[in-house]
Amino acid sequence: MSTKSFALSAELAEYILKVSLRENPILNQLRIETSKHPLARMQIAPEQGQLMALLVKLMQASKILEIGVFTGYSSLCMALALPPDGNIVACDKSEEFTDIAKRYWKEAGVENKIELKIAPALQTLDEFIKAGKTEFFDMAFIDADKSNYLAYYEKCLQLVRKGGLIMVDNVLWRGDILNSETQDKNSQYIQAFNQKLAEDQNIDLVVLPIADGLTLALKK
Ligand SMILES: C[S@@+](CC[C@H](N)C(=O)[O-])C[C@H]1O[C@@H](n2cnc3c(N)ncnc32)[C@H](O)[C@@H]1O
Repeated sequence: MSTKSFALSAELAEYILKVSLRENPILNQLRIETSKHPLARMQIAPEQGQLMALLVKLMQASKILEIGVFTGYSSLCMALALPPDGNIVACDKSEEFTDIAKRYWKEAGVENKIELKIAPALQTLDEFIKAGKTEFFDMAFIDADKSNYLAYYEKCLQLVRKGGLIMVDNVLWRGDILNSETQDKNSQYIQAFNQKLAEDQNIDLVVLPIADGLTLALKK
């Protein structure tokens, strides 16, 4: 939930984009349309999308679980990086937001790679677990309601394979993560979440200061 890297000077952030961003024209159009949306700040930053696409390729992923779609920028970044037979299960509760996403997925020719599940995401994940889809996914991306981050993470740990990667957005919460007296509920949820992962020996762990903070947790 940040369209810019907050932990860099504006000049350095601009420089990084200038020398490295290779945004697909349809991703760029989606970003421009989303920038006019009142909740535009929920979209990931373009350099983060590019990193996630690179990770999809590095992981040689073909099955991805996404929790939190909004207008579909992160799904589209990952779908464009997937092989032709790759698939993303994209979970969101909003038809209004994801109707925008569907237009762009279609325009980019990846609509067949993305299976949209409109429901509370915990319900969708529980259905997968009940259906025996444990260790099914190569990667997961968590970017929805912060109050459920820990629950999403624990379910994703069951749903990704050994050696699978869980990515988690907004783990620095625009710096408020450092505020031990914060009254912001989302800051408190993310503080507890980060602490839990710091103690979790089931994963290899990195926190990247890109955009609003991206955690990479590789399941052992
Ligand atoms: C931060 S946005 C996702 C941004 C997206 N990854 C992107 O790159 O643009 C969070 C999304 O989570 C969805 N969401 C919030 N709570 C949810 C829930 N309990 N179940 C499913 N989706 C939820 C919202 O509708 C919203 O679209």
